[in-house]
Formats: sequence, C-alpha cells, structure tokens
Amino acid sequence: MRRPIIAGNWKMYKTIPEALEFVRDFKPQVVASTHCEIVIAPVFTAIKSVSDRLEGSNVEVAAQDAAAEPGPGAFTGEVSAAMIKDSGARWVIIGHSERRQFYGETDESVNAKIRAAIGAGLLPIVCVGEKLDERDAGRAEQVVEAQLAGGMRNLTASDASRIIVAYEPVWAIGTGRTATPETAQTMHAFIRTRFGAMFGAGVADNTRILYGGSVKPDNVAALMDQADIDGGLVGGASLEADSFARIVNYKDRS
Ligand code: PGA
Repeated sequence: MRRPIIAGNWKMYKTIPEALEFVRDFKPQVVASTHCEIVIAPVFTAIKSVSDRLEGSNVEVAAQDAAAEPGPGAFTGEVSAAMIKDSGARWVIIGHSERRQFYGETDESVNAKIRAAIGAGLLPIVCVGEKLDERDAGRAEQVVEAQLAGGMRNLTASDASRIIVAYEPVWAIGTGRTATPETAQTMHAFIRTRFGAMFGAGVADNTRILYGGSVKPDNVAALMDQADIDGGLVGGASLEADSFARIVNYKDRS
C-alpha cells in the first residue's frame, strides 16, 4: 500500500518566528492524523528551528532545493544535500517549476540533484508538469515523459524506489485553477506507467505520485479519491495552519 503524503511548499515565505508560530498552531491539529505522512518545506534558514520544534512529532521537514554537487566544496551560495540532512530535514523538493522557470533548472541538473539527495539519504520529491501552451497543443504527456526520462536518467531501480514524484501542471500553480481529478488521474496513471517501463512494475506500484497546483481544503478529497493520486504538494494553502490542517485531515471530512 502506498501511504499518502501531504506536503506543504512554503516557497519564499515565513521568517523563523512566523514558521514557529505556524508549527505551534498546526501540530495539535494533526497529532492524530496517522493516515498520511506530513511534510513542510520552509526556507533554508528556518529548517533547523522548525525541525527542532517538530522533533518527536508526526510532521517532517523538507528543503525546497539542494545543490547538484555533493560537496563539500567551493560552491558559493549552494547548500548540499548532506547539509540539509544535517539541519534536520528528511525530504527535498527537486525541479519545482519555479526553479525551472526562473533559475535555469534543467532535467540534467534535476538528475544530478536527485543523485546528490539520494546519496545523502534524503527523499527527493521530484516535480514535473507541462505549461499551458504545451497542454493546449496536446503535448502534456510528451513533456512530462521527457522530464521523467531526463530527470531519472541512469538511475537504478533502487534509486527510483526512494523517489516521490509530484505532478504539478504549471498552469495550475498559484492560479486557483486546479486540474480536475480526472485530468490529474490520467497523468498520474501515465507517470506510473512510465516508471514501470523505466524501473519495473514493482517500483512503479510503490512510487508515491503527488498532485500539486491549487490544492485547497475543498478540493483535496476529490483528488485523493483517484486511484493514482497518492498525496498533494500544496503551496498557497499550506501557509496557514488551519487551512493546511484541513487539507491533511481530508479523510475526516468526506
Ligand atoms: P499552489 O502551489 O498550491 O499555490 O498552486 C503548488 C506548488 O507550487 O507546489
């Protein structure tokens, strides 16, 4: 069985005091939420404080990126996967569309970052997803297939078994325009099939595929009902403790 994951991507929001205030309000609301794994991804500078405050709880911490180089080394401004682990995080988001769009992330750098993350013992949440013009041109699956092929190039089945995929159609991120559960399900099933072709059916069956793009308290349950949707990567709606707790607790509200 694939255990669902609900992950919050805080992007470039929240100072340390703001992050700790969130933790104080959020933790009690999910203390009994054992149906899924719960992850929050603060900015680098808040990871240590947040993970210290979450120690012993059922909420874990992710970074939003990691260096492609394992390091240590002369790479000014970079943070290695090993340093992320050292700061208390267990997960790392890799290849988010904002990094692809604004910071020159490529499938090649995604591939290197996945290797660095796995090498350091982190669990990579690897983002893929098409832009609106690509979907309108009927190329959504082709784009995602190429991102998977490039991002996962030359990984072993054992590497792949540590990977979580997040399908995030770019046109749904921060726009309030969620993919319908059916549209998302179709792509998730496609991703699972591609994983099967690359790494075998056993790995594909166990791989968690999260949906991201305007996940909210009122649409999460319908998305989670789909056979191949194994969780959510939540941006805007993860910034507020009550709203993110309602998303985590989607099961209680059917
Ligand atoms: P959103 O962001 O939920 O605000 O659309 C999702 C993401 O970027 O991971």
